[in-house]
Amino acid sequence: MERTYLMVKPDGVQRGLVGQIISRFEQRGYKIVGLKMMQIARETAEKHYGEHAGKPFFTGLVDFITSGPVVAMVVEGKDVVVTAREMMGATNPLKAIPGTIRGTYGVDVGRNVIHGSDSVESANREIAIFFKPEELVEYGRAIDTWIY
Ligand code: PPS
Repeated sequence: MERTYLMVKPDGVQRGLVGQIISRFEQRGYKIVGLKMMQIARETAEKHYGEHAGKPFFTGLVDFITSGPVVAMVVEGKDVVVTAREMMGATNPLKAIPGTIRGTYGVDVGRNVIHGSDSVESANREIAIFFKPEELVEYGRAIDTWIY
């Protein structure tokens, strides 16, 4: 099964949206296989967002993602990378379709509530940055036969 890296950003944590955001993925049928709250070190944030180094928003993005605790998740299921991005909505919340996470909770690109990997390759890279292998849990769910 495919896995993706999702992260409720500091604005989502401060606004008390963690439970509602996690619920969306659970209710869709996706399985959480890794979950933790953490404060990201600046060096780790710069590694995570390394492909954007040098862009005008890079410093602000690193400042923001290290400004408070985040909730990091690894979520597993069919086509989860693309589907999670669809559930999140456009990067700029003002462009995000109402009903998506960003289209429900955000209005500013610098405060867009959630991060999600943009490809399977990115997911593997990001999961390795934020989770040790032993922090990911393999388990079955009885309900899986009603989802797949
Ligand atoms: S790009 O240049 O198209 O590759 O960038 P994009 O994929 O749209 O965004 C990369 C991440 O940077 C965040 N971002 C911003 N943060 C603050 N201010 C501005 N103006 C801004 N523009 C983009 C964006 O939310 C992406 O972060 P993640 O965590 O992946 O959502």
